[in-house]
Amino acid sequence: MKHREKYLELIDKMASNPKVSRMNQYIQHGNVTTLDHVKAVSRMSFWLNDHLHANARTDVLLYGSMLHDYYLYDWHYHDGRLHGFSHPKAAMALAAADFQLPDGTEHVIRAHMWPLTLFHMPLSREAWLVTAADKLVALNETIRKRG
Ligand SMILES: [Fe+2]
Ligand SMILES: [Fe+2]
Repeated sequence: MKHREKYLELIDKMASNPKVSRMNQYIQHGNVTTLDHVKAVSRMSFWLNDHLHANARTDVLLYGSMLHDYYLYDWHYHDGRLHGFSHPKAAMALAAADFQLPDGTEHVIRAHMWPLTLFHMPLSREAWLVTAADKLVALNETIRKRG
């Protein structure tokens, strides 16, 4: 089986985990749920890793991308305009409490909003890839909502 297909299967497997699938209850942008969003970010992270030959660790990429927004609340009501600053830490803490994370995953989650979170800069390949993928996917979701 091809590397990419195997990764897509891992995304689906992880998305069907009852804890992970709770992200389906929350809206990210427009009509995109947080679960749809993290799946798109995960696919994009994999694509970037492949095309940039970044050689990231696949397990860290998978867990980091799938759990980067694992904060499990509706941010529109919960923290509004401060959401961008506050949710990486919340997602990291919940992910660490609920899963046996591969080393380096917490950092990926913590750093994914950089440069907004100035003091939490990506310091690994996996963190850079997820940070970039998240921005590309969020842009796409926002443009499609307005179009
Ligand atoms: Fe986020
Ligand atoms: Fe995100």
